[in-house]
Amino acid sequence: MRLQGKRALITGAAAGIGREAAQRFAREGAALALADLDLAAVEALAAEIQAEGGRATGIRADVAEEASVQAMVAAAEAALGGLDIAFNNAGVMLAGDRGPEDTPLEVWQKTLAVNLTGVFLCCRHEIPALERSGGGAILNMSSLVAYMGAAEPQIAYTASKGGVLALTREIAVQYGRAGIRANALCPGPVGTALTEALFDTPEKLERRRVHMPMGRFAEPEEVAEVALFLVSDAASYVTGAGWLVDGGIASAYVTAE
Ligand SMILES: NC(=O)c1ccc[n+]([C@@H]2O[C@H](COP(=O)([O-])OP(=O)(O)OC[C@H]3O[C@@H](n4cnc5c(N)ncnc54)[C@H](O)[C@@H]3O)[C@@H](O)[C@H]2O)c1
Repeated sequence: MRLQGKRALITGAAAGIGREAAQRFAREGAALALADLDLAAVEALAAEIQAEGGRATGIRADVAEEASVQAMVAAAEAALGGLDIAFNNAGVMLAGDRGPEDTPLEVWQKTLAVNLTGVFLCCRHEIPALERSGGGAILNMSSLVAYMGAAEPQIAYTASKGGVLALTREIAVQYGRAGIRANALCPGPVGTALTEALFDTPEKLERRRVHMPMGRFAEPEEVAEVALFLVSDAASYVTGAGWLVDGGIASAYVTAE
């Protein structure tokens, strides 16, 4: 019960890593506010968690819209009686996101709006709530691509995740003395709907897999486990970190095959 007595908000909780983290955090005793564009899915997940004896509530939110984020944090605080943990996980990788010369401006802007401005807006409204609870932990979803470039580009996504890493560090520095830790989670490729859409042919999949020392994608639960550590009191001296969960990709020069 590593999150016993903790109250946590997770964005993008309807699917993939966010959904997995919700289930993991609930099993560790956290009371949860689960936010997503897809209200029916987070309400169904909250009902599943409640059926297993946990506490969870679903909230509809668009992290790219400030009024929606403000309402989300207020609803989470009201439902949970305070806020100790914020996992800002919601993000998109859009079709058409390629290189600097051929990525449509609207794809760039939409990606930045959700992945970077979304995290900024969440932090802006979560920090006062965390302060009202006497401090807490923020975990922002970045990516391996905040550290490494790919010749098969996704320039808007990459830039957004680099921005998340940078803003997270600055928040960690600014709020350290207020008892708020802030870290960025930086996974390599994880088997979720997001990567299924991206690597939709065996050739595309193999083009990435060959660079992975472990020869496989991460499972969402392997990322959720690290998220759990970073938001828990076990990580009480970890702040300002970009935490890689990449199966060794960032350490690899040449792989074994
Ligand atoms: N899958 C990977 O390989 C991988 C690797 C590194 C980082 N990430 C990041 O992890 C996060 C989760 O990815 P995933 O693979 O679980 O994706 P996913 O597509 O399976 O789930 C993302 C969830 O976010 C929600 N969402 C999207 N836009 C939103 C918005 N504007 N407001 C609120 N909710 C919104 C979606 O409805 C969905 O439920 C993303 O930030 C992604 O960039 C994923």
